[in-house]
Amino acid sequence: MARQLLLRENTVLITSRSAERLQAAKNSLPEIHTFVSDTGDPDSISRLFADVESRFPGLDVLINNAGIMHSLNLQEPADPSLMSREMTTNFCGPLWMTTRFLSLLKTRPEAAIVNVSSCLAFLPLAGFPVYCASKAALHSLTLSLRKQLADTKISVFELAPPAVDTPLLHGAFQSSVQSIPAMAVEKLVASAISGIQSGNLEICPGQSKLMKVLAPLAPGLVGAWMNKITRPNPGRG
Ligand SMILES: NC(=O)c1ccc[n+]([C@@H]2O[C@H](COP(=O)([O-])OP(=O)(O)OC[C@H]3O[C@@H](n4cnc5c(N)ncnc54)[C@H](OP(=O)(O)O)[C@@H]3O)[C@@H](O)[C@H]2O)c1
Repeated sequence: MARQLLLRENTVLITSRSAERLQAAKNSLPEIHTFVSDTGDPDSISRLFADVESRFPGLDVLINNAGIMHSLNLQEPADPSLMSREMTTNFCGPLWMTTRFLSLLKTRPEAAIVNVSSCLAFLPLAGFPVYCASKAALHSLTLSLRKQLADTKISVFELAPPAVDTPLLHGAFQSSVQSIPAMAVEKLVASAISGIQSGNLEICPGQSKLMKVLAPLAPGLVGAWMNKITRPNPGRG
């Protein structure tokens, strides 16, 4: 995404918790601006905001992309802090980033917030209960935010990807999935950028569109299809 935005002559800022990963990104994309920041930590967000506000007051797009995904068997004992970290990263992070950066975005003649949810916001995959709940919550938050900002120049987008070929997908599913038809990152990014450019506020690439339309109409059917492409991992639930 950063590469494609740079090619379109944007100034691109990216964040990560890891200075090493940011350096690797910078080596590959020297024009990029990098910031170590943790979206799960309000103090870290405040420091990021102060830095960005002073160095890049023209910021006009915020993409809330950070996310983590863990499988969880709700019948087994689990560490509460691990469970809440997933909710904090996937839901509170976008909420805290948005409320913190809103004042800056409001100074621009036109601005956008892009919340990256998931097709699993529309129907949960039971093996990932907190992840799916966090994305459903982000979907709901995005609807409210869009309504609250209706009288401003800020457009609120939701990008709900289907399965995409990234480390998150491989890490979360490991051996628990027989075959996931994963979209290439380049294809997802092309859909996202063209969706934003054309003002499509709810961008649901590939099978995500089908999930969004069919899940409320036929949750049993869609759930059965999802179960067909996944199988339980006895070790992790
Ligand atoms: N891949 C899929 O199939 C899929 C499908 C639907 C939705 N999504 C969503 O797409 C988004 C991107 O996921 P991905 O597939 O690209 O996963 P990924 O390769 O694992 O990347 C996740 C990114 O989130 C960042 N991140 C995680 N926790 C963070 C935190 N507390 N503070 C700052 N950054 C944090 C990571 O940065 P550092 O680790 O460097 O800090 C990393 O850049 C996520 O919101 C995910 O839920 C993915």
